[in-house]
Parts: sequence; structure tokens; C-alpha cells
Amino acid sequence: MRNMRKVLLINGSPHQAGCTNRALEECASSLRASGIEASILWLGNKPVPDCIACGKCSATGKCIFDDAVNQVLEMLDDIDGLVVGSPVYYAGPTGAVCSFMDRLFYIAEPRMAGKAAAAVVSCRRGGSSSAFDRINKYFSICSMNIVGSQYWNQVHGRKPEDLDRDQEGLQTMRTLGANMASLIKAQEGVSLPLHEKRIRTNFGG
Ligand SMILES: Cc1cc2nc3c(=O)[nH]c(=O)nc-3n(C[C@H](O)[C@H](O)[C@H](O)COP(=O)(O)O)c2cc1C
Repeated sequence: MRNMRKVLLINGSPHQAGCTNRALEECASSLRASGIEASILWLGNKPVPDCIACGKCSATGKCIFDDAVNQVLEMLDDIDGLVVGSPVYYAGPTGAVCSFMDRLFYIAEPRMAGKAAAAVVSCRRGGSSSAFDRINKYFSICSMNIVGSQYWNQVHGRKPEDLDRDQEGLQTMRTLGANMASLIKAQEGVSLPLHEKRIRTNFGG
């Protein structure tokens, strides 16, 4: 029996202490202020392997590429909420974030149901909405509870100190943390809704 609720925040930027991290820190502080444990996992700045569709994970429950994907899989049962942060690259999340999420969710989809989830995107100027939508697609395909804020979860800047001037972005992060905390607390002791085994309908053979 766990007595502390936990949220894992993923920093998918190649910059460990960049704008994405600054936004996630603001959200994490707000979670902590609401009594939720929060930790940030940086994906690093080395290339992240793509899913090669080998299917080995269906037998082992792990990825053949032993990196942050397997690390998160090991933590998953202790996590009540997941926040995924990415810089905006050409109006989408980074390639590394997409590769990480493809591999994580292909394995862990059935274990994600009922967890709170949020995407956070950081851009200099534009393309945040499409990047935000793309990350939310992972959450909405597997019965996660997507948490909103008082604006879409985006911040604007090129350097982390630019965010000090994006007060609306920082406020959005604080509210996101508080909203996620209250959802997690409200769900305490509530069992998951009935989940039907997925019917896979393929067309053409
Ligand atoms: C390859 C590349 C593509 C980018 N594309 C966009 C973009 O489409 N829109 C935008 O506003 N900023 C774009 N940027 C800027 C970053 O998204 C922005 O500076 C972000 O806040 C950096 O976050 P970080 O400090 O966490 O890495 C791009 C940066 C790089 C390196």
C-alpha cells in the first residue's frame, strides 16, 4: 500500500536545464505544494532509438533497447500521473520524444488507464498547438485522464530566463500542477471503469 501519490515529469528536451525543464519545474513545485511527490526525468541528449516493430516486448514486457523506456516501465506502478514535456520542433514534439513515447506506450498502454496525464510544450514562437495535440494522442488512446489548465500547456522562450517574462505560461504550469494534484486525490480509492479488451479491426486481410 503506497501512502504518497507520485507524478513523473519527463523532460524531453536535449537541454537538461532549458525552457522545457523550467516549465516542468514550475508544475512540479505546484504538485509538491499540493502534497504530491514529483520528480523530473531527463531523457538526455543522445539519440533515442525508434520502435523497430520487432514485437519482442509482447513477450518480455520490456523494450530491447535498454534505456529510459525500461526505466519508466519499472516505475510505472508507483506513478499516479505523467507529464511529458517537449520543445516544439517544426510544430511537433522532438523526434526523441516521439521515439520514446512510441516505444513506451506500445508496451505500457494497458498499464496507463486511469493515470492522470498532461503534455507540456515549449516553443520560441509558434507550432505549440500541433505539438501539444500530438503528445495528447498517446494519452487519449489508452484511457488516461488528461488534465487541463487555464490555458493550453505551453510556454514561450528560447532560453530558460525568457520564461520569467512569460508569466502567463508559468501560471498555466502552476495551475496544471494544482489541477493534476486535485484529480489524483479525488481518484483515491476509486476503481477503474470497466475496460473492454481491445477489438483490433484491420481492413484488407
Ligand atoms: C530543430 C529545432 C526546431 C525548432 N522548431 C520550432 C518551431 O517550430 N516553433 C518554435 O516556436 N520554436 C522552434 N524551435 C525553438 C524551440 O522550440 C524553443 O527554443 C524551445 O523553447 C526550446 O526548449 P528547450 O530549452 O527546453 O530545449 C526549434 C528549435 C530547434 C532546435
